[in-house]
Amino acid sequence: MCSPDHFTVEYAINPWMDTTAPVDATLAFRQWEMLRTTLADLGHTVHVLNGVPGLPDMVYAANGAFSVDGKVYGARFKFPQRAAEADAHQLFYASGEWSFASPGHVNEGEGDFAYLPEAYGGMVLAGYGFRTDPAAHAEAQEVLGRPVISLKLVDPAFYHLDTALAALDDRHIAYYPDAFSPASQRVLAQLFPDAVIADRHDAEAFGLNLVSDGRHVVLNTEAVAMGDKVRAAGYLPVHVELTELKRGGGSVKCAVAELRPGVLKAGEALGA
Ligand code: ARG
Repeated sequence: MCSPDHFTVEYAINPWMDTTAPVDATLAFRQWEMLRTTLADLGHTVHVLNGVPGLPDMVYAANGAFSVDGKVYGARFKFPQRAAEADAHQLFYASGEWSFASPGHVNEGEGDFAYLPEAYGGMVLAGYGFRTDPAAHAEAQEVLGRPVISLKLVDPAFYHLDTALAALDDRHIAYYPDAFSPASQRVLAQLFPDAVIADRHDAEAFGLNLVSDGRHVVLNTEAVAMGDKVRAAGYLPVHVELTELKRGGGSVKCAVAELRPGVLKAGEALGA
């Protein structure tokens, strides 16, 4: 996660951002801190990057990279206002634990990539249409050595994959079909016949912008109906209020870059 030290809405690069509606910085920090402690209380280790002055969107840490099996595919932001965030994330992965690949194509990290370790032996779902260049999907497949399924996003309100689709556990997803092109909807229905289906109201409440550990599903307070849907599917919804982050066009998932380190085999050492 990245602390919202410099979070504001001073430019508009998605339809949720209104530069005339001020952000309550104190409230933003309190809500973000509640998300951090909620994840920690659920037993997760949370590393915190400090925000950088002049990078108001850095609180949306999910966009900084995408890691699978200790391999990290770095981000390259579409808009110049966010470009410098990529370096701050790259520094985080500088330890020997990670193998970092610099991207040749525009991609916004976990904003547009999701990983399902047990679906079809480990697959990546990737969004394009607004931010990530589809050429980055092929590049990610080469870097990560996992099949990447390209999905076309068609509604500007759901400009990143993580606003329209979420992994609920290692093989199950939830998604809002109308955020995708008709062909991509068919692909999703074919791959995930048992998905939890969200409606427009759920998606607009940022109910798909969730973080799940396979049991607890952390999601925005406004997403009451989505919480009921995940409960009915056998998960435990945990609601966190994130009204201020919504002003920038994000919620729980956007604020969290999930770390997937490689699994050490017997006799292997870190950095070896
Ligand atoms: N204001 C940010 C932007 O447009 C929000 C990013 C939200 N992050 C996410 N993973 N969906 O780019």
